[in-house]
Amino acid sequence: MANQTIVLGITGGIAAYKTPELVRQLTSSGYRVIPVLTEAAENFVTSDTLAAVSGERVRKSLWDVEAERSMGHIELARASDLFVVAPATANVIAKFAHGVADDLVSTIYAATQAPVLLAPAMNQQMFKHGPTQRNLRQLTEDGVRIVGPNSGDQACGEVGVGRMSEPHEIVTAVRTVLAQIGNRPTNPEGTATGVRVLVTAGPTRERLDPVRYLTNASSGRQGFAVAAAAQAKGAEVILISGPVSLDTPPGVHRIDVESTDEMHERVHENLDGCDILFAVAAVADFRPKTLHDAKIKKSAQESEEWSLELEATVDVVTSVTKLENRPFIVGFAAETNDVLQHARDKRVRKRLDVIVVNDVSDKSIGFDSLENKVTLIHDGGDVEIPFAAKEVVAERIVSESLSLLARSERSTASNGSTG
Ligand code: CTP
Repeated sequence: MANQTIVLGITGGIAAYKTPELVRQLTSSGYRVIPVLTEAAENFVTSDTLAAVSGERVRKSLWDVEAERSMGHIELARASDLFVVAPATANVIAKFAHGVADDLVSTIYAATQAPVLLAPAMNQQMFKHGPTQRNLRQLTEDGVRIVGPNSGDQACGEVGVGRMSEPHEIVTAVRTVLAQIGNRPTNPEGTATGVRVLVTAGPTRERLDPVRYLTNASSGRQGFAVAAAAQAKGAEVILISGPVSLDTPPGVHRIDVESTDEMHERVHENLDGCDILFAVAAVADFRPKTLHDAKIKKSAQESEEWSLELEATVDVVTSVTKLENRPFIVGFAAETNDVLQHARDKRVRKRLDVIVVNDVSDKSIGFDSLENKVTLIHDGGDVEIPFAAKEVVAERIVSESLSLLARSERSTASNGSTG
């Protein structure tokens, strides 16, 4: 990520007051950030503050001869690895959608070949307004990524959808987009236009009583990164997630679930036309045998000891591998010992096409960390995916799996034609 340059367009909405914090979070993540302000934005945030937090000269006008001499607007467009606009007002969204280039921010948009990420922010009625929605659809079709907006209280006193995503959410979106473009597939087998992908992610939660449940430490990050990577390759992605605190990757359809039973139901409801299932979720294997309607009271227990009776939950991925008309299935395993052997056995036992395994006894990877290191095991051998950010690992997992899917489709087709 070091040395990557983000040109940050800031347009005139009240949410511009959050941009110094956004710049601070981006620079402390290792990015170079060049802020570019529209005239209206200057009413909400000062260029002195932005210069101080970015360590860069803040650009404001196409007509600043001094600044243009050091880095002209076309050079700014070329210099960016990612062009972010936050907040993006209804006005700038309309300009981008219609090719209007009448100030520095809109000129950079017209001239850049870098990916573009917008964080819309506006009054909720303005966000719902037909032309704004049409313009956003147009920009999505043009390949622009959108993060947010969130729902909640607005500066204008109204409540609804239109609040700019929080700085940390924008930083996550930046990381995701940059990880995706840094790993663009070069082989045609790696692209996934027209491929339908289902991903399970996160933990599941098994209720004991209204206030207690059994769960595990899965953060959902690897599954979300797999969904984002598949989407970036053009796949249609449905992400079925247990309770996690992660933002939905742009362009991914997310369905939230709580229990294993719910995950099982949603998976089967969405299998129609599915080409590939990535079962990344850390599904609870057991649940309390009895679900208590009222909170279990300690005072009602007769002894100091208390035991909990558990029963097995449904195995979601195995319920899919058993189907006659099954998608290509990539399962995941987190092991602590005899890692590869357990994973190989699990692949056969669960009838998975591929299993992706990591060693969770290594604290630097897996469950709650940002990085991972895995081995992908399939019929034809093992693929080591070295230590890297989960987004990067996800891109390799998705690429390898798509190649294996393509290979299996070819062999099915050729078996069909000779048989
Ligand atoms: N899995 C599932 N439903 C379950 C348990 C696991 O779909 N009830 C899926 C996971 O999403 C993963 C794979 O099965 O893709 C392997 O999960 P893991 O927890 O390692 O397997 P277990 O069957 O629980 O094996 P064990 O506890 O013996 O290691």
